[in-house]
Amino acid sequence: MSIPPATNRVQGPAIHVQGLEKSYKELRVLRGVNFEVARGSIFALLGSNGAGKTTVVKILSTLLKPDAGAARVNGFDVAAQGAEVRESISLTGQFAAVDGILSGRENLVLVARLRHLKDPGAIADDLLRRFSLTGAGTRRAATYSGGMRRRLDIAMSLTGNPPVIFLDEPTAGLDPEARIEVWQAVRELAEGGTTVLLTTQYLDEAEQLADRIAILHHGRIIVNGTLAELRQLLPPARIEYVEKQPSLEDIFLTVVGDAGEDDRDGGADSGSQDLKTKSSGK
Ligand SMILES: Nc1ncnc2c1ncn2[C@@H]1O[C@H](COP(=O)(O)OP(=O)(O)OP(=O)(O)O)[C@@H](O)[C@H]1O
Ligand SMILES: [Mg+2]
Repeated sequence: MSIPPATNRVQGPAIHVQGLEKSYKELRVLRGVNFEVARGSIFALLGSNGAGKTTVVKILSTLLKPDAGAARVNGFDVAAQGAEVRESISLTGQFAAVDGILSGRENLVLVARLRHLKDPGAIADDLLRRFSLTGAGTRRAATYSGGMRRRLDIAMSLTGNPPVIFLDEPTAGLDPEARIEVWQAVRELAEGGTTVLLTTQYLDEAEQLADRIAILHHGRIIVNGTLAELRQLLPPARIEYVEKQPSLEDIFLTVVGDAGEDDRDGGADSGSQDLKTKSSGK
């Protein structure tokens, strides 16, 4: 029996979830969750702390069995075809899986070797470049900033080009620049045809990235649609004249400036920045 490569299974939605239920003892976390994710799209699952987002991701990546309901990922049933599902996905968890003793490049080579890919060195170099980590590639990952670590973590989960990727709170704890870099990387993934399911508590992250947004609340998806569809749930805003003040994020990004690749890679010891020089180019 031969199973076609995961990337060739292109019929139907990339993720199909039907009637998913899960309790931890008395606590009914999922009470009938339904949604679909189209191939090559970015789907954001929103919810407060404890809403059950990670529980959904764990079930879809076969780490956890649901009590009821069914889910298919890349056409494979998570209960009956766990191995095929695992070949089709990658999971970047809420907490980074990077080995701090190894360099960024060594982490990537290790994952490529574990996945039996040809030419692990070339794969590692390509991913370092895509995630603006080339300059820091040979440094121990323990010396990376949170954003660099997170980008390396996502890069590691992309080795082997899985068709479906789960990102559980990909930008939790990152500064605004690092978040934008991660967003850019996620957009490029989807443009390349990868299906992305991400969980987040940041509403602006979902606004920025997602083709569809679903809100998980009290164990069910209470809203699921495009941003435009979600906006229609509320009455149109009254027209008001307000002085538009820059947001703190605008100010932060302007003052800090576009730190180039060199800055971010090797910036650990680059010291303080000259605000005048940085902002004069804007
Ligand atoms: N192994 C477990 N045993 C008992 N309760 C659990 C377990 N895992 C999760 N829970 C509980 O289930 C609920 C949902 O947890 P989950 O991690 O899925 O939420 P989440 O939406 O990912 O939250 P966060 O935004 O904080 O990451 C929480 O109340 C959590 O405490
Ligand atoms: Mg979680």
